[in-house]
Amino acid sequence: MKDFDLHIQTRLLFGSGKEKNFYDHVLSIGKKIFIVIGGGSVKKLGYLDRITRGLEKGNAEILLFEGIEPNPTSGTINKAAKKATEFKAEVILALGGGSVMDASKAIAGLVYAGEEDIWPYVLGGSKMNKMKGVVPIATIPTTAATASEVTPYAVISNPETNGKAPIGYPFMRPTVSWLNPEFTLELPPTTTRDGASDILSHVFENYLLGGNQSPLADRYAEGVIATVIETLPLVIAEPDNYELRARLLWASNLALNGYQQAGREPSGFVMHAIEHAISGFYHNIAHGRGLATIYPAYFRWLWKHDRCRDRMAQLGERIFGIDKDDVSFASLTFINRFEEWLKSNDLFQSLSDLGVEEEKFEAIAQYTIDTYGFGKNMDARGPLTKDNIIEIMKMTEKVKATT
Ligand code: NZQ
Ligand code: ZN
Repeated sequence: MKDFDLHIQTRLLFGSGKEKNFYDHVLSIGKKIFIVIGGGSVKKLGYLDRITRGLEKGNAEILLFEGIEPNPTSGTINKAAKKATEFKAEVILALGGGSVMDASKAIAGLVYAGEEDIWPYVLGGSKMNKMKGVVPIATIPTTAATASEVTPYAVISNPETNGKAPIGYPFMRPTVSWLNPEFTLELPPTTTRDGASDILSHVFENYLLGGNQSPLADRYAEGVIATVIETLPLVIAEPDNYELRARLLWASNLALNGYQQAGREPSGFVMHAIEHAISGFYHNIAHGRGLATIYPAYFRWLWKHDRCRDRMAQLGERIFGIDKDDVSFASLTFINRFEEWLKSNDLFQSLSDLGVEEEKFEAIAQYTIDTYGFGKNMDARGPLTKDNIIEIMKMTEKVKATT
């Protein structure tokens, strides 16, 4: 097992019964609470009223910011940060999906620094690694997807430059998060599926490229993968089942809280790099949907170049019961079986189905290399070049046509 340094500072409160505990924790940090929400779903569903009432019983002073968009933009974040600074916010509380939580982390960083523009702080920006701290962050996730309620990352978009890139610091992990499956009961099927795809991707990224030095990380990851594969169709059939929603919500947290990679080699998160570049150019593409589109082509590209076959064969055996004596056959069978699962869960499509034009492939691949590869090749158990990324994007069409 490889050495690691894992500091998870976030208090995780799980379940509908933890409401009062959450309010107590938030109020013990500060009374001036800046609540951040998205386009209004949490308002319509009554979640915002419930949280506001709960905090006001403890004499909270609340200012609401509404309008964080999916794939949150630096412009909206900057506006929110200005309001939070004027308000002298003591806590930034996110009530929403990954976009709202990420925006809240970025707002918390700007308020702490007394700065106005978040974009220079992202990966590759002029202020990368210059952030010194954040105002305390509290989150209530309303999607089962990103694990942003525990991760040290915030992913920010800038439609003016077609950019989408992360900011990451250990201190960006929220102070306290309340994971209440009730807040995911009304998620539409498409958002539920997109979220499941994102959960799986977080585990795959580490599993495939991270080597085999941590058998325990393998078993842990397989548990998350098997749970998502089994649970997604059940949730779609029974969307208001609390227990099923709870499984997905907890799986989403476990998939990116840091334990999933402990003891392994680091992964360059190649699929994420490509997907972020794609949704940077096409701001309407949901992160999980973009990932689901890339999976089959990326897996097949790795297979074709004889990379990670051992890892895919092991997954095939442990998730789908495929005999792995013949690693080449077993790994390919794993890919086929996983594609079947994507199809049966409405997650199988090509990039053109998402409206991505082939003439943009080169610019997307260039952005991936420039930003995520720091101008060099990406690493996927061997170099992954700009041309390889273009090849993978083109393969999404071929895979769809031939399977
Ligand atoms: O804007 P509202 O009205 O809230 O609607 C949202 C949005 O349209 C809706 N929604 C959220 N909760 C709902 C709900 N609708 C009904 N009921 C609910 N309970 O769902 C839509 C999508 O929301 P969004 O927050 O964009 O989705 P998700 O949670 O998948 O977050 C995606 C963002 O997170 C980033 C992605 O790149 C993307 O920008 N990621 C963040 C990570 C991190 N911080 O560690 C890691 C991930 O890999 C990912 O990159
Ligand atoms: Zn993701």
